[in-house]
Amino acid sequence: MKRFLFAALLPLCVLLLPGQNSTVGYNQAFRPQFHFSPRVHWTNDPNGLVFFEGEYHLFYQYNPFGDVWGHMSWGHAVSRDLLHWDELPVALPEENGVMIFTGSVVIDHTNTSGFCLGGKPCMVAVWTGFTAKTATKPDLQTQNIAYSNDRGRTWTKYRDNPVLNLNLTDFRDPKVFWSTQAKQWVMAVSLPNDHKILIYSSADLKHWKRLSEFGPAGATAGQWECPELFEVPLDGKPETRWILKVGLNPGAVAGGSGEQYFIGHFDGQRFTDDNPPTTTLWTDYGKDCYCALTFNNLPKTNPPLTIGWMSNWQYARDTPTSPFRGQMTLPRKLSLRTTPDGIRLFQQPVDALSTLREARLEVHEKMENTGHQFQFSSMLPLGTAQDAGWKVLANNGTYTSIGYDKQKGVLYVDRTHSGNVSFSKDFPARTEAPLKLNGNTLRLNIIVDRDSVEVFADEGRLTITNLVFAPAGADKLEFYATDGKPGVVSGLFWKLKSTWLTSH
Ligand code: FRU
Repeated sequence: MKRFLFAALLPLCVLLLPGQNSTVGYNQAFRPQFHFSPRVHWTNDPNGLVFFEGEYHLFYQYNPFGDVWGHMSWGHAVSRDLLHWDELPVALPEENGVMIFTGSVVIDHTNTSGFCLGGKPCMVAVWTGFTAKTATKPDLQTQNIAYSNDRGRTWTKYRDNPVLNLNLTDFRDPKVFWSTQAKQWVMAVSLPNDHKILIYSSADLKHWKRLSEFGPAGATAGQWECPELFEVPLDGKPETRWILKVGLNPGAVAGGSGEQYFIGHFDGQRFTDDNPPTTTLWTDYGKDCYCALTFNNLPKTNPPLTIGWMSNWQYARDTPTSPFRGQMTLPRKLSLRTTPDGIRLFQQPVDALSTLREARLEVHEKMENTGHQFQFSSMLPLGTAQDAGWKVLANNGTYTSIGYDKQKGVLYVDRTHSGNVSFSKDFPARTEAPLKLNGNTLRLNIIVDRDSVEVFADEGRLTITNLVFAPAGADKLEFYATDGKPGVVSGLFWKLKSTWLTSH
């Protein structure tokens, strides 16, 4: 019966599968124009980010059969500039009742795995296999591997999977990298309900030895997911610190899913936090940046680069987009800087974004016809104003405001009037980030891409990432200030070109 159903549905599935011949384009009202989203269907976390032979690979949690979570597989797209993406066929499909959950990809340069052919490096994916419970067995999550000898175009799952099985219902999201300290592969993987990250090592990616654990620490209100362990230069010098980043769902700073990070040292065995376990640092203060991953195998001179999933588990299945659901943040450069509060993670959009700029304009207090794809940077001396900022995507009572509240000492993005907010009670929100102003001046870099607003404040010291669904005519930009007189605002504005139109 099952087989029959499958045969009957197959032609339909083939029609719906993403591919070069699909007639669905990338020009829908709420389709981001320079952020990645799959042509059709559902995505959540980015997976397996890796740079290899000139290509940036973005794998991602993907449902090949629909626009809500299910049948989790790894979708795949490649780019040469992190902005123009080509979607390729599904890399790792759900198979034999095992879904492919989040994980990472490494480049095996010296064939430690024995999977690489012809004396050349190969790609090895490490992911969580999820087997749903049956009448007699509970859900099972294990770590598994697959390899590719053709630049990620085709993959073979290892015949002796799983490579790591603790017989647990929650044990997931392996982030693997080559540790120069340990001269081994290292894996950070989550025990979500224990609020622990386990660290393993391996010589061949097949046999894993437990080294240490980290946690609980920081925020523990929800499950810990999507760990990331990576090294970042400090203050632009050769000196570095290690970041252990952990997704939290629910209970994050803006409600629902969000991410925290710990700053410390990693000696190849153990991560030690430089701060007391009571310190909680958030990577982003918006509602829509989750499970960010950094690229493996970047050239040594590159800063770490990260991409996150731009949604929130509170309402991810209800966002009003079609025929896709889910998208990625802009790729961001990461750095660490010493601030009066201590060492902090800074994020900036990748440099390549400037290649999408159209004519440069001076920012004015009121601008019309901004369109829905633009970037602007502004200097806003608060003066005596108690509250001041920008309304973007504005028209007739619709707007998203990005401003500073002096009394609370917070930067905020308020999307309660941003357009369609009614699809979930958790969507309308004012998200806030504590920010001490430098010289009473608010410095913002704001990027709007049809259904999203990304705010980088003070050279990236704080970010706020939020989805918004504004109506077509909402394309004004307006400065506002209340209870006092602000100084003269200045800044630059650019419309940004679509990356889909130029490549498809
Ligand atoms: C995080 C997450 C991961 C899991 C994946 C499943 O968003 O829950 O922990 O691997 O999504 O799609």
